[in-house]
Amino acid sequence: MIELKSPHEIELMRAAGKIVAETHKLVKEEAKPGVSTLRLDELAEEYIRSQGAVPSFLNYSGYPATLCISFDDQVVHGIPSKNRVIKEGQLVKIDVGAKKDGYHGDAARSFYIGEMDERTERLLRVTEIALMRGIGQAVIGNFLGDISFAIQKTAEDEGYSVVRDLVGHGIGKRLHEEPQVPNYGNPRTGVKLKEGMTIAIEPMVNEGGWAVRVLDDEWTVVTADGSRSAHFEHTIAITRNGARILTKI
Ligand code: MF3
Ligand code: CO
Repeated sequence: MIELKSPHEIELMRAAGKIVAETHKLVKEEAKPGVSTLRLDELAEEYIRSQGAVPSFLNYSGYPATLCISFDDQVVHGIPSKNRVIKEGQLVKIDVGAKKDGYHGDAARSFYIGEMDERTERLLRVTEIALMRGIGQAVIGNFLGDISFAIQKTAEDEGYSVVRDLVGHGIGKRLHEEPQVPNYGNPRTGVKLKEGMTIAIEPMVNEGGWAVRVLDDEWTVVTADGSRSAHFEHTIAITRNGARILTKI
């Protein structure tokens, strides 16, 4: 069942989303060569708690950290560690969730350490545009498949592929609610979008093929062909005035 949220609940989700956005800003500022991903995780957890919120991912299905930090061919769910250090030339993906007053916010961003080359710039740009076009389809009366298709088409028209084994999701009192939000699909198919739906849309776009596998740590998802991957995610609410992004500053 899809749980529709009242305007009041959406305000609570906005408060959680704002903390997520601010955590992203803080972590990105500190993500410099030589800094361990564990250090970034500690900063994020401390900030989230200072805002009266709790990290959404910590202990979720046994996940051991506040952030997911994934490099290069790692798609998502990289586990922070003192031995994993930020380096020049890395494509870094950071995913953050925070729960405040009973409601979650969830967002991910990708960025490059150092001066970006044209190839990396294009991957990041296209993935973020795919997210924004997906969000643009998140209006009352459209279908879930309209979001999925917009994302897939944006990525594939540029020669990239979208990961199929991982999906976006409904979000609210729980981090993962119905419906699943795939990053590929057909227009005018799937659930009809209604006022009060809150979803996390999160395209994962690969330079190579779409296949992925999970490392022996049982969390880190990597591309099967070793190609690089980018990830952008926002939590949004479907309102009478269109999609409202809850995880921006
Ligand atoms: N944004 C990701 C998701 O919604 C992060 C989840 S990591 C986990 O699935 F540890 F919480 F699973
Ligand atoms: Co998510």
